[in-house]
Amino acid sequence: MQVCRSISDIRAAIAGFRAAGDTVGLVTTMGALHAGHMALVMAAKTAHARVVATIFVNPTQFGDPKDLASYPRTEDADLAMLRDAGVDAVLIPDAREIYPESDETIVETTRLANVLHGLVRPGHYRGVATVVTKLFNITQPDAAYFGEKDYQQLQVIKRMARDLHMPLDIVGIPTVREPDGLAMSSRNVRLTEDDRNAAVVLSRALDKAQTEAGRGVPIDRIDQALRTTINAEPRARLRAVDIVEPATLAPATGLMKGPIAIMLSVEFGPSDNPVMLIDQREITP
Ligand code: PAF
Repeated sequence: MQVCRSISDIRAAIAGFRAAGDTVGLVTTMGALHAGHMALVMAAKTAHARVVATIFVNPTQFGDPKDLASYPRTEDADLAMLRDAGVDAVLIPDAREIYPESDETIVETTRLANVLHGLVRPGHYRGVATVVTKLFNITQPDAAYFGEKDYQQLQVIKRMARDLHMPLDIVGIPTVREPDGLAMSSRNVRLTEDDRNAAVVLSRALDKAQTEAGRGVPIDRIDQALRTTINAEPRARLRAVDIVEPATLAPATGLMKGPIAIMLSVEFGPSDNPVMLIDQREITP
């Protein structure tokens, strides 16, 4: 695996793959890799001769400097996992190269970035769209792989790629879960043991929502069931329940006519430095 720390190095590596006629799949990450990231790598490997990964803790998508500072950084372990998974090249860029001095260009999906989770974290999806555009331009892959866990992020990236005529496929991959149902996340390592055990309430609430949907209850009752389940867990602080139409993220109301997406944001731990967990599921009537 080629470990590249500059844009010119990764471009040279990818030019070599292209010269051999190989297709390239991209997996962008912020490191602290887990089985969820490896599922993206495996999907990319199935479809492409070469897989390129990036590790970059992107400062522009963090509102709170404390959240940025406490984001886990585990480069040696990350590199070992990527190597074992058969990744061909990884880019670990310097923030000063990604954001050149006096840069002024941003990318924003003006509606999708500013609803739901984007209201709680202003500027977050603008930071994501901007850095992902840069990483696409640097690596120019045939396809890029993103987890469905951050459902809004996936919709933002799909819309951005479509609107800006980016010549690649955006592929969403289902959430990978711990045996008890907790969605894998780089943030899980920051949970205390008690909070870790309590955090299973997110997937339990989503299971309950699917059961209610199967019984044909209206969407407001599904919303109620989600809130009741999460509020019954004393360690969990519910921040948002969003029930939306897939793709447009417009609020879903009334009776279900087809699949709907549920997005949960729940906080654990100290209120001055909380761990915000998200989970999502598309449920069917
Ligand atoms: O999902 C992530 O890890 C990040 O938001 C991404 C897509 C790598 C952009 O920094």
